Amino acid sequence: MKLASVSITFGALVALALAEAFAPYAVSTDAIFEQFDDSWDQRWKVSHAKRDGEFSYVGKWAVEESKIYPAIEGDKGLVLKSPAAHHAISYIFDRPIDNTGKDLVLQYEVKLQDGLNCGGAYLKLLSADGNLDQEFSNDTPYQIMFGPDKCGMTNKVHLIIRRKDPVTGEYEEKHLRTSPMANTSQLTSLYTLIIKKDNTFEVRINGKVVKASSLLSESLFEPSFNPPAEIDDENDTKPADWVDDLEIPDPDQAEKPEDWDENAPKKIPDPEATKPEDWDEDASQYIADPEAEKPEDWDDEEDGEWIAAEVLNPDCEEHGCGKWTVPLTNNPDYKGKWIQPLIDNPDYKGPWAPRKIANPNYYEDTTASDLEPIGGLGFELWTMDKDILFDNIYLGHSIEEAEAIGNATFAKKLAIETKLSDDKAKAAGAKDPESPLVQEEDEDIFTTAAKYVDFAKFLVKQFLLNANDYLLDLGENPQEVLETRLSEGLVYAGVFGTIGTLFFGLAALLLLKLTSEIDSSVDAKVEKKVKAESKEESKEEKKEEKQEKPEAKTSSAQESETTATKRG
Ligand SMILES: *[C@@H]1O[C@H](CO)[C@@H](O)[C@H](O)[C@H]1NC(C)=O
Repeated sequence: MKLASVSITFGALVALALAEAFAPYAVSTDAIFEQFDDSWDQRWKVSHAKRDGEFSYVGKWAVEESKIYPAIEGDKGLVLKSPAAHHAISYIFDRPIDNTGKDLVLQYEVKLQDGLNCGGAYLKLLSADGNLDQEFSNDTPYQIMFGPDKCGMTNKVHLIIRRKDPVTGEYEEKHLRTSPMANTSQLTSLYTLIIKKDNTFEVRINGKVVKASSLLSESLFEPSFNPPAEIDDENDTKPADWVDDLEIPDPDQAEKPEDWDENAPKKIPDPEATKPEDWDEDASQYIADPEAEKPEDWDDEEDGEWIAAEVLNPDCEEHGCGKWTVPLTNNPDYKGKWIQPLIDNPDYKGPWAPRKIANPNYYEDTTASDLEPIGGLGFELWTMDKDILFDNIYLGHSIEEAEAIGNATFAKKLAIETKLSDDKAKAAGAKDPESPLVQEEDEDIFTTAAKYVDFAKFLVKQFLLNANDYLLDLGENPQEVLETRLSEGLVYAGVFGTIGTLFFGLAALLLLKLTSEIDSSVDAKVEKKVKAESKEESKEEKKEEKQEKPEAKTSSAQESETTATKRG
């Protein structure tokens, strides 16, 4: 037996030995902890919200065990089942949770069983006074939106806090400006949000702190929790006599000087040049070729008079021949058009800015961490990818309790999943490396190429959109972007720099592969083509369909991004 197979068998045995049966975890009474046991449907309600008479949320939900790298027997989670659909489900609490003067901890597991190309996996904490008896929808007021959201290259863990402006009475969505990136592996990830009663907060992924700051830090949230104390006075206008020209024409030099000749030519005949003594004006530069002979079959009547071709006069190699002309030189008196010189403007006042006045809507939020009572939680998501599994949702006031839950549930689960995934990778690596090629043999190489091209187009489009966003952000706020997102910028710079190299490398590789594959398959192809000629047309149609799909996907994905941003 090969070593690899031994190790795989051994790995499977270890996984079996590690596999555990599900056992519920008990938490303190003032916390919500959801493990999706058999009584889950007494708490969770799928939304039947309607818009224009139609159900808004057609996506299906299920409570089931994990289908990929299942770690704990009997451990079920809430699974979002429908690709490319809107989903909404909520859990309304018996009594609201109030975190006034307390820490708030929200923690939950996300397992992207099919990966995440484009979609959300975030959770909302719903406002207790937000008409929670009505069907849950994106209109349901919330206090916090937290969790992964990814589409193409845009990948963030959202943190949005809805906060009432005490002066205007309006709610504002405070968005964390630079978000951590979500995990996109197919293993379980643990997302934790801690809002402490001292107005600081932490975001943790798999127990590791990925963002920590104060809610009140300036420009960390957009808009910030505390508005600016002073604002521009909108009624202030720039005075008519405000001088903001840095330079003016020199009044002492208003007239063109008299000796300034605008018409003086740039070049003049060189006054110092003289004709060389041996220059022969009588000799001509070109002469008839003395060696040329009239061809014997030349007929003057038919071909016209014969003239010998001209050659350079050999005498003129030593000295100049023909008419001598004076060479041109730069004119020292040339001045060009006269322009009145500029001087610093003595009346310059600097750029004008409106005067500052006290912000009438100013307030100081000293208790930003005190949310309004939370009456429930809900997932309200759009996604291209199905089978996103949520589990072990904790909402309470104890960081220690959340950590203990993480240790008892998530950490164990992840250890087993990691083992299972490593084994699978090893098994795939141990297979005959030629086998994938055998599989591909049947597929039309042009269809394969088209598929890769489509996927590449999708990725490139996303990349360019993101690079564009980055440039816009950079233009708006260069210092912050460079400080906090320098690495992202380096990635874009690096990618654009490498594109040239990559392009030629890939093109060479592709050519090599195509030529070798065409060579080996050309005989079989000819036979196939003859047989399949009648099918050719329908195949073409299919190909066209395939090329259209990714476009549709991209635009609906963007639409969802936009709505997600609008929503919160
Ligand atoms: C969780 O596990 C880590 C590592 O074993 C340990 O250091 C920590 O004290 C544990 N936390 C709790 C609350 O049990």
